[in-house]
Amino acid sequence: MEDKSKEIKKGIADLFNKVSVVFDGSGPRFFAYFGKRLVEFANIKKGEKVLDVASGKGASLFLAAEKVGEDGKVIGIDIAVGMVNETNLEIQLRCLKNAKIMVMDAEKLEFTREAFDHILCGFGVFFFPNYKVALDEFMRVLKHGGRFSFSTFLRVKDEKFIWLDALVEKYLPGFVDKDEEEDGPEFDTEDGLYKILNEANFKNIRIVSEEKTFTYKDEREWWDKLWTHGYIRVLEMIPEDKMEDFKREVFEKLRQIKESEGICATMFVLYACGEK
Ligand SMILES: C[S@@+](CC[C@H](N)C(=O)[O-])C[C@H]1O[C@@H](n2cnc3c(N)ncnc32)[C@H](O)[C@@H]1O
Repeated sequence: MEDKSKEIKKGIADLFNKVSVVFDGSGPRFFAYFGKRLVEFANIKKGEKVLDVASGKGASLFLAAEKVGEDGKVIGIDIAVGMVNETNLEIQLRCLKNAKIMVMDAEKLEFTREAFDHILCGFGVFFFPNYKVALDEFMRVLKHGGRFSFSTFLRVKDEKFIWLDALVEKYLPGFVDKDEEEDGPEFDTEDGLYKILNEANFKNIRIVSEEKTFTYKDEREWWDKLWTHGYIRVLEMIPEDKMEDFKREVFEKLRQIKESEGICATMFVLYACGEK
């Protein structure tokens, strides 16, 4: 069990190390957008001490640092050293005195009890193999009345893109089904998030959803974006000698849905908050 979870975490760290330089760096920057929206949803206040778990390239960290001001502090943690190095560079570049980031596992926080007013976690919880351990850790390091706010992707997908799973299934038979774990926690429904927070003893739970459309200028921009985040895991499983065919079919489908302004893709996101 311990070994299995270590192996999963190593795979995740390797994956995000690989994309750390390009992460969310091309096309519509949807992680940056949703990261800011998470901070707004969380209603971070001046002077607060905030922990940003699974910080990545700081989609939430930088706005949180602005919100807490010079009397507050934001500490980002991430399991991928590449992400931490990239974000650290940006912190230095912006000369931020109230923010820092370090390599740390969400399931093993190296902080004392009741150290934070708020914990943020943008699109991270579904990566934790023992998410309940992570939530217990969040409870431990939160002050009484402190809040945990996080985001996940909603199960709903843009109807225009349902061909993508079918295409992946064609090139990677069995992959799409295998990826959907039955009886697992539902990070992609409102009821699922409520249950997860409730079982971890969070109070005053609040959940909202958002639907946001992003426009890619053309097929290439949409394709290139796929290689800048977690989806690279799927792409890398497609046999090398099949990649050109896969790409050709993707481009054909994209051409069919392209509109005058470009390729419009709608994303569906959940924001949830619970109080200690
Ligand atoms: C999809 S990215 C999101 C990054 C950022 N929060 C954002 O919204 O752009 C997920 C991040 O979770 C990190 N991560 C995954 N498992 C983790 C763990 N156990 N502890 C800390 N970070 C983890 C990954 O390294 C990656 O940077």
